[in-house]
Amino acid sequence: MCGIVGYIGKKNAVDIIMSGLHRLEYRGYDSAGVAVIRNGSLDCVKSVGKLVKMDEKLKQNPLDSPLGIGHTRWATHGVPSEVNSHPHFDNDMEIAVVHNGIIENYQELREELKKGGANFRSQTDTETIAHLVRKYYQGDLFAAVKRALQDVEGAYAIGVVCKKNPDVMVAARHGSPLIVGLGDGEAFIASDVPAIMKYTRKVLYIDNGQVCEIRRDGYKIEDLKGNPVTLEVKTVDWDDSAAEKEGYPHFMLKEINQQPDVIKNTLRGRVTEGSDTVQLPDMQVTEQELKDLKKIVIVSCGTAWHAGLVGKYLLEKFAQVPVEVDIASEYRYRDPIVYPNTMVIPVTQSGETADTLEAIRVAKKKGAKVVSIVNVVGSSIARESHGVIYTQAGPEIGVASTKAYTSQITAFALFTIWLGETRGVLSKAQGREMIAHLRAIPDKIQWVLDHQEEVIRCSKDPKYLNAQSALYLGRSYNFPSALEGALKLKEISYIHAEGYGAGEMKHGPIALVTDELPVVCVATKGDTYDKMVSNIQEIRARSGIVLSVATEGDEAIKNHSADVLYIPECYEPFSPIVVAVPLQLFAYYVATNRGCDVDQPRNLAKSVTVE
Ligand code: M6R
Repeated sequence: MCGIVGYIGKKNAVDIIMSGLHRLEYRGYDSAGVAVIRNGSLDCVKSVGKLVKMDEKLKQNPLDSPLGIGHTRWATHGVPSEVNSHPHFDNDMEIAVVHNGIIENYQELREELKKGGANFRSQTDTETIAHLVRKYYQGDLFAAVKRALQDVEGAYAIGVVCKKNPDVMVAARHGSPLIVGLGDGEAFIASDVPAIMKYTRKVLYIDNGQVCEIRRDGYKIEDLKGNPVTLEVKTVDWDDSAAEKEGYPHFMLKEINQQPDVIKNTLRGRVTEGSDTVQLPDMQVTEQELKDLKKIVIVSCGTAWHAGLVGKYLLEKFAQVPVEVDIASEYRYRDPIVYPNTMVIPVTQSGETADTLEAIRVAKKKGAKVVSIVNVVGSSIARESHGVIYTQAGPEIGVASTKAYTSQITAFALFTIWLGETRGVLSKAQGREMIAHLRAIPDKIQWVLDHQEEVIRCSKDPKYLNAQSALYLGRSYNFPSALEGALKLKEISYIHAEGYGAGEMKHGPIALVTDELPVVCVATKGDTYDKMVSNIQEIRARSGIVLSVATEGDEAIKNHSADVLYIPECYEPFSPIVVAVPLQLFAYYVATNRGCDVDQPRNLAKSVTVE
């Protein structure tokens, strides 16, 4: 949440910062600001609302300077307003700070700093950092930041500039993501790689407790006590076009359409042509550990939690290991029991979700082996895990998670096959057959993408478009599909939607069914198909509007449904990967037809780095 970008070099920092902020706008978009140092003064432009407002303001008040910092905000402390938007300053407007995270002891710091004469302008926690740096500043910005951060509790990634040090930018991290990009006679700071991909591929991943002094011709990194730190310069190999819409009206639609290739990428290097085994070397687990495994606990949030639920069905059925799936924000505050030989699997696109990160810290302390399913390489969760399965989905920019979800389920499928074979639950022949089913998934997704007419038609139908509320039902492997379909619709269209296991319908939700309630029923062919059809009939008997997701060729389902969205015939355990696609498209088209901004939905941010 919140995006920060900074630049020091010879070019105009403002152009680079604004281009970077646009690529980070998925992190927050309620207000923004830029501060630059030029000709011995510190100048700033701020605006409320999305970044286009900043673009307009900067056109009217152009800033030009080779050193600056910028921020796009997702409000935590204080309403979105110009005064609360970053950068924040000390009394004399000499020091400017941008921040992503939450300063937990800001109230105490604020009171103390006020006594020392600090004049607070905003309600934010961030402003305390600006005044604290001022308090310790004696001409050396790097030294002042290191000292100030010793007083700070909480999570932060910060960028700091001072008008008295026009050749220095200081950045620091504790808990919130931060990278430093290195160019030729220039350097960058950012919350995430896409912000600077246009300018450099050489990146330092700053770690917790590290502070970096960045100059045009070099940098140094120390911990808060002044001990030098050496970090390896990594080369990022993402394609820059990954951060562009490439002709699609929204990132979300682009990412939905990328899914055939994304699944191929998730499989790439893990299952070689003609092979009957899965290779996941980055998991860093031995065969013996897999054989000794007594329990798996999956921890995650939102869509990633739904992927974890599908993972449970797969792992229990084909590897015969008991699996619990926990919401990370609950797991971290319980006192979870971790028996020996427990593996904890965090699932996360960003790798920075605060609750998931904290959950794995709890699990590690209790002795669990932590192997994460992560998309963003080098992210905090990837680094703090003992092993990783990278989903290899490429950057996901749309706030609504789509390709990350299907790639996470694919990663679970790979792990299931490996674990099942290693534990002797699956034969090599069964493993080979499951791999073949996985390989068939991209074509099945492509089929859905090539047959979108019906979903587009339904999305314009007033009975769906103007619905106040919707129910999603599914069973077995597709119970999580119902939860995920409902989340997609509610988060981007603002139609209230609930997902339920269809068997639960009679235990309460059926009371909601009227001739105005759309009920999306996942009724693809599989073991529970007949049960789903019975549930559908019960809904129809109460005049509910049934929108079924069914298997191509199932004509009978039309008799019980108002409308049907088809997917091609599919191996049931992997069907949630394909079922996700019509549900994503339905949510996307309903939301865009309602005039909603699907890439930046109300109140949401892509990466939830605060609790
Ligand atoms: O980055 P993560 O996968 O850890 O994020 C988890 C959730 O915040 C995320 O899936 C969220 O629910 C999305 N808005 C869903 O579309």
